[in-house]
Amino acid sequence: MSEISLKIRVFGDAALRKKSTEVKTVTARHREVLSLMARTMYQDGGIGLAAPQVGINENMIVVDIGSGLYKLINPRIIEKEGKQAIEEGCLSVPGVCIKVPRARKILVKALDENTKPLDIKAEDLLACVLQHEMDHLKGKLIIDYASLLDQVKMKKKLAQLKKRARHEELSESETKSCKLQL
Ligand code: NI
Repeated sequence: MSEISLKIRVFGDAALRKKSTEVKTVTARHREVLSLMARTMYQDGGIGLAAPQVGINENMIVVDIGSGLYKLINPRIIEKEGKQAIEEGCLSVPGVCIKVPRARKILVKALDENTKPLDIKAEDLLACVLQHEMDHLKGKLIIDYASLLDQVKMKKKLAQLKKRARHEELSESETKSCKLQL
Protein backbone atom coordinates (compact mmCIF):
# COMPACT_ATOMS: atom_id res chain seq x y z
CA MET A 1 0.00 0.00 0.00
CA SER A 2 2.76 2.46 0.87
CA GLU A 3 4.08 2.06 -2.68
CA ILE A 4 0.84 3.49 -4.01
CA SER A 5 0.61 7.23 -4.32
CA LEU A 6 -2.90 8.54 -4.35
CA LYS A 7 -4.22 10.48 -7.30
CA ILE A 8 -6.91 13.07 -6.87
CA ARG A 9 -9.95 12.23 -8.97
CA VAL A 10 -11.52 15.04 -10.91
CA PHE A 11 -15.15 15.69 -11.94
CA GLY A 12 -16.19 13.05 -14.43
CA ASP A 13 -14.70 10.21 -12.37
CA ALA A 14 -17.40 7.79 -11.21
CA ALA A 15 -15.95 7.42 -7.68
CA LEU A 16 -16.94 11.02 -6.91
CA ARG A 17 -20.62 10.25 -7.47
CA LYS A 18 -20.83 6.94 -5.59
CA LYS A 19 -22.13 6.68 -2.06
CA SER A 20 -19.34 5.51 0.22
CA THR A 21 -19.74 2.60 2.61
CA GLU A 22 -19.36 2.41 6.36
CA VAL A 23 -16.00 1.12 7.63
CA LYS A 24 -16.93 -1.98 9.65
CA THR A 25 -13.50 -2.82 11.05
CA VAL A 26 -10.64 -0.35 11.09
CA THR A 27 -7.52 -2.07 9.77
CA ALA A 28 -3.90 -1.16 9.07
CA ARG A 29 -4.95 -0.49 5.49
CA HIS A 30 -7.38 2.22 6.62
CA ARG A 31 -4.66 3.85 8.71
CA GLU A 32 -2.32 3.73 5.74
CA VAL A 33 -4.93 5.25 3.43
CA LEU A 34 -5.65 8.06 5.94
CA SER A 35 -1.94 8.90 6.16
CA LEU A 36 -1.61 8.95 2.39
CA MET A 37 -4.75 11.06 2.12
CA ALA A 38 -3.29 13.60 4.57
CA ARG A 39 -0.07 13.71 2.57
CA THR A 40 -1.98 14.22 -0.67
CA MET A 41 -4.11 16.96 0.91
CA TYR A 42 -1.02 18.86 2.09
CA GLN A 43 0.77 18.38 -1.23
CA ASP A 44 -2.14 19.87 -3.12
CA GLY A 45 -2.70 22.74 -0.72
CA GLY A 46 -6.07 21.45 0.48
CA ILE A 47 -7.63 21.83 3.91
CA GLY A 48 -9.79 18.73 3.60
CA LEU A 49 -9.97 15.56 1.54
CA ALA A 50 -12.46 12.69 1.40
CA ALA A 51 -11.64 9.12 0.40
CA PRO A 52 -13.81 9.15 -2.78
CA GLN A 53 -11.58 11.96 -4.05
CA VAL A 54 -8.76 9.43 -4.27
CA GLY A 55 -11.04 6.73 -5.66
CA ILE A 56 -11.80 4.92 -2.40
CA ASN A 57 -15.51 4.74 -1.59
CA GLU A 58 -15.28 4.24 2.14
CA ASN A 59 -16.33 6.67 4.86
CA MET A 60 -13.02 8.35 5.64
CA ILE A 61 -12.01 12.01 5.59
CA VAL A 62 -9.02 14.11 6.59
CA VAL A 63 -9.26 17.76 7.58
CA ASP A 64 -6.70 20.36 8.65
CA ILE A 65 -7.68 24.01 8.58
CA GLY A 66 -4.38 24.93 10.24
CA SER A 67 -5.20 23.94 13.80
CA GLY A 68 -4.35 20.26 13.63
CA LEU A 69 -5.02 17.20 11.53
CA TYR A 70 -8.22 15.18 11.89
CA LYS A 71 -8.34 11.68 10.44
CA LEU A 72 -11.97 10.60 10.72
CA ILE A 73 -13.70 7.31 10.03
CA ASN A 74 -17.50 7.04 9.64
CA PRO A 75 -18.13 10.70 10.51
CA ARG A 76 -21.75 11.75 10.99
CA ILE A 77 -23.48 14.95 11.97
CA ILE A 78 -25.49 14.72 15.17
CA GLU A 79 -26.50 18.37 15.62
CA LYS A 80 -26.67 21.41 13.38
CA GLU A 81 -27.15 25.04 14.25
CA GLY A 82 -27.12 28.39 12.47
CA LYS A 83 -26.25 29.24 8.90
CA GLN A 84 -23.20 30.29 6.91
CA ALA A 85 -22.13 30.39 3.28
CA ILE A 86 -18.45 30.45 2.39
CA GLU A 87 -16.95 30.38 -1.11
CA GLU A 88 -15.68 26.82 -1.45
CA GLY A 89 -13.35 25.28 -3.97
CA CYS A 90 -12.81 21.57 -4.35
CA LEU A 91 -9.67 19.70 -5.34
CA SER A 92 -11.92 17.50 -7.48
CA VAL A 93 -13.62 20.40 -9.26
CA PRO A 94 -10.68 22.70 -9.99
CA GLY A 95 -11.41 26.14 -11.31
CA VAL A 96 -14.84 26.30 -9.70
CA CYS A 97 -15.81 28.39 -6.67
CA ILE A 98 -19.28 28.09 -5.15
CA LYS A 99 -20.87 29.73 -2.16
CA VAL A 100 -22.47 26.81 -0.33
CA PRO A 101 -25.15 27.26 2.34
CA ARG A 102 -24.24 25.20 5.40
CA ALA A 103 -24.81 25.02 9.13
CA ARG A 104 -22.51 27.30 11.13
CA LYS A 105 -22.13 24.96 14.09
CA ILE A 106 -22.19 21.19 14.05
CA LEU A 107 -21.54 18.28 16.35
CA VAL A 108 -19.82 15.39 14.59
CA LYS A 109 -19.35 11.88 15.87
CA ALA A 110 -16.64 9.75 14.29
CA LEU A 111 -13.96 7.19 15.02
CA ASP A 112 -10.29 8.03 14.98
CA GLU A 113 -7.78 5.74 13.29
CA ASN A 114 -7.48 3.69 16.49
CA THR A 115 -11.26 3.14 16.63
CA LYS A 116 -11.64 5.59 19.49
CA PRO A 117 -14.99 7.45 19.36
CA LEU A 118 -14.63 11.19 18.91
CA ASP A 119 -17.03 14.08 19.45
CA ILE A 120 -16.07 17.16 17.49
CA LYS A 121 -17.81 20.46 18.14
CA ALA A 122 -17.04 22.55 15.10
CA GLU A 123 -18.01 26.00 13.96
CA ASP A 124 -17.32 28.43 11.12
CA LEU A 125 -14.59 27.22 8.73
CA LEU A 126 -14.04 23.85 10.44
CA ALA A 127 -17.79 23.15 10.36
CA CYS A 128 -17.87 24.14 6.69
CA VAL A 129 -14.97 21.85 5.74
CA LEU A 130 -16.38 18.88 7.66
CA GLN A 131 -19.76 19.29 5.93
CA HIS A 132 -18.04 19.57 2.53
CA GLU A 133 -16.05 16.36 3.11
CA MET A 134 -19.10 14.49 4.40
CA ASP A 135 -20.96 15.55 1.24
CA HIS A 136 -18.22 13.76 -0.74
CA LEU A 137 -19.08 10.55 1.13
CA LYS A 138 -22.65 10.87 -0.19
CA GLY A 139 -21.43 11.52 -3.72
CA LYS A 140 -22.36 15.17 -3.49
CA LEU A 141 -20.21 17.99 -4.92
CA ILE A 142 -20.20 21.80 -4.55
CA ILE A 143 -21.53 22.16 -8.09
CA ASP A 144 -24.79 20.58 -6.88
CA TYR A 145 -25.37 23.79 -4.90
CA ALA A 146 -24.76 26.10 -7.84
CA SER A 147 -27.23 28.84 -8.65
CA LEU A 148 -28.56 29.05 -12.20
CA LEU A 149 -26.06 31.81 -12.93
CA ASP A 150 -23.17 29.72 -11.56
CA GLN A 151 -24.36 26.75 -13.61
CA VAL A 152 -24.13 28.78 -16.78
CA LYS A 153 -20.70 30.15 -15.83
CA MET A 154 -19.17 26.76 -15.09
CA LYS A 155 -20.71 24.76 -17.93
CA LYS A 156 -17.67 25.05 -20.18
CA LYS A 157 -15.24 24.39 -17.33
CA LEU A 158 -17.03 21.16 -16.34
CA ALA A 159 -17.04 19.93 -19.91
CA GLN A 160 -13.27 20.50 -20.05
CA LEU A 161 -12.72 18.69 -16.75
CA LYS A 162 -14.78 15.73 -17.88
CA LYS A 163 -12.55 15.36 -20.91
CA ARG A 164 -9.29 15.35 -19.00
CA ALA A 165 -10.27 14.12 -15.55
CA ARG A 166 -6.66 14.08 -14.37
CA HIS A 167 -5.73 16.51 -11.68
CA GLU A 168 -2.03 16.64 -12.48
CA GLU A 169 -2.73 17.91 -15.98
CA LEU A 170 -4.39 21.02 -14.67
CA SER A 171 -2.66 24.36 -14.66
CA GLU A 172 -1.73 26.24 -11.50
CA SER A 173 -4.29 28.97 -12.20
CA GLU A 174 -7.04 26.39 -12.43
CA THR A 175 -6.21 24.63 -9.18
CA LYS A 176 -5.63 27.85 -7.23
CA SER A 177 -8.60 29.80 -8.54
CA CYS A 178 -10.51 29.46 -5.28
CA LYS A 179 -8.88 30.32 -1.97
CA LEU A 180 -10.27 27.34 -0.09
CA GLN A 181 -9.53 23.92 -1.59
CA LEU A 182 -11.47 21.12 0.07
NI1 NI B 1 -14.04 18.68 -2.21
